[in-house]
Amino acid sequence: MDKNIKLEVRNVTKVFGKNPHKVISLLNEGLSKSEIFEKTKQTVGLNNVNFEVYDGEIFVIMGLSGSGKSTLLRCLNRLIEPTAGEILIDGQNITQMSAEELRNTRRTKLGMVFQNFALLPHRTVLDNVAYGLEIQGIPKEDRYFKALAAIETVGLKGYENSKITQLSGGMKQRVGLARAIANDPDILLMDEAFSALDPLIRTDMQNELLALEDRMQKTIIFVSHDLDEALKLGDRIALMKDGKVVQIGTPDEILTEPANSYVSRFVAGVDRSKILTAESVMRRPEPFVSVSSGIRVAIKLMKAHGISSIYVVEGKNRRLRGILMISDALKALKAGKSLEDAMIQEPPQVAPDLPLSDVIPLIAESQYPLAVVNDSGKLLGIMVRGTVLGALAMSGQNGHATAFEEKDPEEKTSEEKSLEEKKFAGEKFEENPPEKTDPISKSKGEAEGKAGNEARFPPESSGIPDISGGINNDGIDTGSASTEAAAKAPLISDTGPGSEVKIC
Ligand SMILES: Nc1ncnc2c1ncn2[C@@H]1O[C@H](COP(=O)(O)OP(=O)(O)OP(=O)(O)O)[C@@H](O)[C@H]1O
Ligand SMILES: [Mg+2]
Repeated sequence: MDKNIKLEVRNVTKVFGKNPHKVISLLNEGLSKSEIFEKTKQTVGLNNVNFEVYDGEIFVIMGLSGSGKSTLLRCLNRLIEPTAGEILIDGQNITQMSAEELRNTRRTKLGMVFQNFALLPHRTVLDNVAYGLEIQGIPKEDRYFKALAAIETVGLKGYENSKITQLSGGMKQRVGLARAIANDPDILLMDEAFSALDPLIRTDMQNELLALEDRMQKTIIFVSHDLDEALKLGDRIALMKDGKVVQIGTPDEILTEPANSYVSRFVAGVDRSKILTAESVMRRPEPFVSVSSGIRVAIKLMKAHGISSIYVVEGKNRRLRGILMISDALKALKAGKSLEDAMIQEPPQVAPDLPLSDVIPLIAESQYPLAVVNDSGKLLGIMVRGTVLGALAMSGQNGHATAFEEKDPEEKTSEEKSLEEKKFAGEKFEENPPEKTDPISKSKGEAEGKAGNEARFPPESSGIPDISGGINNDGIDTGSASTEAAAKAPLISDTGPGSEVKIC
């Protein structure tokens, strides 16, 4: 989805009543919808609504009954005239259009699907779907051609000659959808289109709408009072209350960064594991090492960060190649093997949009952090059990998710980074008692005195440079290059006298 603005709503207010401008001045004075109704008996439908809809996205307008969803949707094609404000479609202000211009815009750019189907009961499916084209005066052959294509798109091929009365609710709604897309509009306006359907058919229709969106790349503005539906369908969601937009955001943002307590209450009880994705809870994948850097640099980075495994990437695009365990790295160093030979190829990995409900079984089984990798194989982030469980445990009532409250890695001290990475990747270090969790800050004597088969690292004072601060999440070519350069420059031979790395 690109970010071209398809539709823009600017300062739109709608008042139902005889003296709307009086109401607008009361709104400007800060009176609420209910106070205004008490005082004037006029209803605020929309109160200074602003948002943009991007080309090709599904934008969901959500809110409780009476919050203004239908009013807003109907203002978009001027089935309801806004009292104030502007609505732009492809940069053209439709609130200023003449009747003729508006008809043209509606015909070419806007299609609408209604909750109650709004079909002509005694006509066939084909004639219902072709109806909008018919009233535009399009010749029969042309309109049937387009209508048949739309009928096929919504999965009703074979029912062209059925009467509406012979169809189930789900099929009727498909007819409504086919009618809206028959004219190939840029924007589909859908008002509670699936609310009248029973749950299974509703789920089918939602899936089909998503599939249709993939195929046709329409901009869809979808009204729903159902949070699960909004979270499932929406690229972004506008949550409304009393005619105002309370928050606009992606499903993740609405769940994890609710703008206020109203939104928190609204989203409480949602099954977060189905909504949150790998991408939304992953951590930056630092440190990582380039496959061309060699085994010593990898060991050096692991030492500096106090971790027992490191992701191996290739090239400027950070293509994931494998994961290297410290024990394998140390063996490989002794045996004179390369990093590539020592690493585990094809480590466990997931796509960024995988829901956490699907991540959980994978992460439970995996002995390493999970890599989050995009279509082109780029390492985007890592996930460990703690992060996933933390994200799921959040109530969403404090306005921020813990996973998002973390300091920017660039701002963290090397000790903080080290401790964190250890928690994520260095399971072997978890054996240490809590007060001794930082192997880097341990004295040499302490580290060597500890029994076990874990790798031991020297203290900072041993002459090994602090390289953790040089790791840059932007890409291996800049940050990691300098990191690796720093690591390489004063490299004490790991087998030489300065080395503290041992295999016990
Ligand atoms: N034609 C009208 N005349 C007067 N008031 C109206 C009119 N249409 C809507 N309203 C009022 O405007 C407000 C917003 O109504 P709207 O129909 O947009 O709500 P909604 O969010 O779509 O609700 P629902 O989920 O029940 O469909 C409500 O207070 C409603 O009573
Ligand atoms: Mg409505």
